[in-house]
Amino acid sequence: MKQRTLLSTFNLTIVFSLLTRITVCSINPKFEACEPKTCGGTTNHQNVSFPFYIISKQNSYCGLPNFGLTCSHDGFPILNTSETLYTVQNIFYNNQSLRVSIPGLSPLGTKIHGIGHSKRFSVASKQKQVLLFYGCKNMQDHSIGCSAENRTGSVVALYGDDGENLKLAKKNCRGTVSVTRVEDEKGGVEEALRRGFLMNWTAKNCSECSNSGGRCGFDQDHYAFRCYCRDRIDSENCYPQPGLSIFLSRIIVNY
Ligand SMILES: *[C@@H]1O[C@H](CO)[C@@H](O)[C@H](O)[C@H]1NC(C)=O
Ligand SMILES: *[C@@H]1O[C@H](CO)[C@@H](O)[C@H](O)[C@H]1NC(C)=O
Ligand SMILES: *[C@@H]1O[C@H](CO)[C@@H](O)[C@H](O)[C@H]1NC(C)=O
Ligand SMILES: *[C@@H]1O[C@H](CO)[C@@H](O)[C@H](O)[C@H]1NC(C)=O
Ligand SMILES: *[C@@H]1O[C@H](CO)[C@@H](O)[C@H](O)[C@H]1NC(C)=O
Ligand SMILES: *[C@@H]1O[C@H](CO)[C@@H](O)[C@H](O)[C@H]1NC(C)=O
Repeated sequence: MKQRTLLSTFNLTIVFSLLTRITVCSINPKFEACEPKTCGGTTNHQNVSFPFYIISKQNSYCGLPNFGLTCSHDGFPILNTSETLYTVQNIFYNNQSLRVSIPGLSPLGTKIHGIGHSKRFSVASKQKQVLLFYGCKNMQDHSIGCSAENRTGSVVALYGDDGENLKLAKKNCRGTVSVTRVEDEKGGVEEALRRGFLMNWTAKNCSECSNSGGRCGFDQDHYAFRCYCRDRIDSENCYPQPGLSIFLSRIIVNY
């Protein structure tokens, strides 16, 4: 009896030390590669992880196609949704939304082409419309800079519900008009433009995988979601696999 117990303890120790060694030896390289990264700027420390990835710093299997970000020279992540470039101010992974602004809007007044349409991103609700008029005269109070396309006129930014000034702008501005959004909060339009607006995205929810200790990713060859665990790649999460626990319980039951 005593001998039997010793033997089983011995065997279990071997099994467990083997398992430990396997886990330690084979840390999944994709788990390591998909650690969150930042653009490295001094003003923006936004962590970038699934569904986003930084093209120059993370592998594309760490995020979804169309969610690759670049970094601006001052360290902000930049999102390119086919037509429009956005400066990413914050990413809210908890509710799948992000706050973006239009880069270089002020003071140069770079022309923007409205909000690009994209299947992945949509403007969140309660975002207020702002109209930008180019080539304006006599509207200094509402000017946010000079127009790059027409340096003799200024760029005027107005809330979409500012009826009186909109009428004035239609009279005093000769250039194009473009539309953007800001969060619906009190305050000046220029500051609101700098803060940006909220968009949300549609993608697989990462919380099950990340709550189980994994890092989400995407297999482009099979076009499928992946959960990168420390020791393996799973299709959903990193909770212990039933197969392995059955294997272990069988060993224990046998003794
Ligand atoms: C980014 O992640 C690091 C490491 O997990 C953490 O220390 C830091 O606070 C995070 N930064 C932000 C802005 O969440
Ligand atoms: C943004 O993406 C579009 C389409 O993929 C591409 O043609 C364009 O060059 C990109 N713009 C920048 C500034 O990277
Ligand atoms: C993601 O799933 C978790 C739980 O599964 C849920 O609490 C959370 O609200 C979901 N997030 C989104 C943005 O749907
Ligand atoms: C998501 O959550 C953040 C705070 O965590 C909040 O500021 C933001 O408004 C939320 N986004 C949406 C679309 O409600
Ligand atoms: C994103 O916002 C749109 C418009 O407000 C809403 O219809 C949609 O349900 C939101 N999607 C997510 C994933 O929250
Ligand atoms: C530039 O703006 C000024 C002032 O509004 C206008 O008179 C002029 O025609 C504009 N030029 C062009 C090329 O649009």
